[in-house]
Amino acid sequence: MADPAWWHRAVLYQIYPRSFRDGDGDGVGDIRGICQRLDHLVELGVDALWLSPVFPSPMDDFGYDVADYCDIDPMFGTLADFDALLTDAHKRGLKVILDLVANHSSDRHPWFQESRAAQSSAKRDWYIWRDPAPGGGPPNNWLSEFGGGAWEFDAASGQYYLHTFLASQPDLNWRNPEVAAAMHEVVRFWLKRGVDGFRADAVRHLIKDEAFRDNPANPAYRDGDPPDTAVLPLYTADRPEAHDIIAGLRDVIDEFPDRLLIGELNLPFDKLVAYYGRDLDGLHLPFNFALLSAPWKARHLAGLIDRYETALPKGGWPNWVLGNHDKPRIASRVGDAQAKVAAMLLLTLRGMPTLYYGDEIGMRQIKIPPDRVRDPYELNVPGLGLGRDGCRTPMQWDASSKAGFTKGKPWLPLGEDHRQLNVENQRADRTSIFTLHKRLIALRRAHPALAVGDYRPMTATGDLLLFQRALDRERFVVALNLGAEPVEVDFAKGEVSGRLVLSTHGDRDGEVVTDALALRDNEGVVVELS
Ligand code: NOJ
Repeated sequence: MADPAWWHRAVLYQIYPRSFRDGDGDGVGDIRGICQRLDHLVELGVDALWLSPVFPSPMDDFGYDVADYCDIDPMFGTLADFDALLTDAHKRGLKVILDLVANHSSDRHPWFQESRAAQSSAKRDWYIWRDPAPGGGPPNNWLSEFGGGAWEFDAASGQYYLHTFLASQPDLNWRNPEVAAAMHEVVRFWLKRGVDGFRADAVRHLIKDEAFRDNPANPAYRDGDPPDTAVLPLYTADRPEAHDIIAGLRDVIDEFPDRLLIGELNLPFDKLVAYYGRDLDGLHLPFNFALLSAPWKARHLAGLIDRYETALPKGGWPNWVLGNHDKPRIASRVGDAQAKVAAMLLLTLRGMPTLYYGDEIGMRQIKIPPDRVRDPYELNVPGLGLGRDGCRTPMQWDASSKAGFTKGKPWLPLGEDHRQLNVENQRADRTSIFTLHKRLIALRRAHPALAVGDYRPMTATGDLLLFQRALDRERFVVALNLGAEPVEVDFAKGEVSGRLVLSTHGDRDGEVVTDALALRDNEGVVVELS
């Protein structure tokens, strides 16, 4: 790579601010709390942190409903607290990425309040308003991602407005240049403060069909599927004009040196990679969520890595995500032992890895009692297992009664396992998943081949996934056993000769490897070839 940017080699760490660390004792995490724990990120070795939204919000969707794009919610602190976080992070060499929720605002945002006031309002067209269908009822069949229709009737002004998510999250109208200009100013506001980039939310929804055509029925839809999948989002997602919006945002990002634009997109690879832009003038990194739902099978994983690598445009930098605030925790999806193998996969693949807070200690999905459910998605669409609270529970720092998260009552239940499963315990344990993460990240930092080298597939049979990473003379073999039985790997004569530099079990450093390699159950190893 001729001129790599900082993010080509970076490991990104996602903080869900409500759940990371509570600095003021109200049971909800905050910016002061994050400042108190920046050294955890330094210890882990990550390069950048991304904060889920911290802006003023009624918190209907826990911050993804923004009521003011240029301030901090008092629950999280003040702008001065945020500036202090930026300074403290930068002092430690950590970059800071913010969430950009540009598809929709809160219905409490002054823009929407003005828009809603009357059909003649100057900001009416900042949101998406339509007359009722000729016979009455919503203008078309579009559905909300959070269940039910995507149109809400506003009796006072006699029209419907569109909401891709909650009714209190009205969609902004990106066809209106004033909206684009206002959002560009929001981006500049934070970049001028020193923020290092954005993770743009809900990118595939940013613009919808101009003719408001009905979405077609989804023939594969079955009872029990998420209700919004009853139709195919042909006219509501991944519209061609989305690329123009992204290019506009990217221009603003590029007004400032070294800033990063990531985007959240749930799309198959062929559609996802279009968001790099025709001349790489789109997102630097369209999030790759394939691992979030991939069956944990060697052939399947190898296949998806190959398809992704092949689909990438020339010069487009890959990235991988193993967990986030919308999906079940990896440790519960694949089991505690495999979570270490998964960490090794994430941190040895080519491209930027994103690590979700708590996954570095193998936090599990927590079962939420019905009376403590907070996620609006679960409350709207109960019983289908779609709830997101279980992956958003407080960070488990230590074995104390509140896990070192708060002095108050945690906003979501703490994992009952926190007395054993916590940062403090794992720090002292050479074989812990926390130690493994630290060592993997350090290895990646020490060896450019692991960060930016080529990916070369080797084997994917049974439970065995094998690949190489290579740059110039540096070559590594990564061998992962995805199963609970030991496996023996036989290499072709002379193919592999080197030294084992890391095992998920933490105890094989320096072992010489030639021609064959024995992997224990649920073991992954990295071998440096000589
Ligand atoms: C995607 C975010 O990750 C999710 O948490 C949120 O509910 C929706 N977008 C709506 O903003």
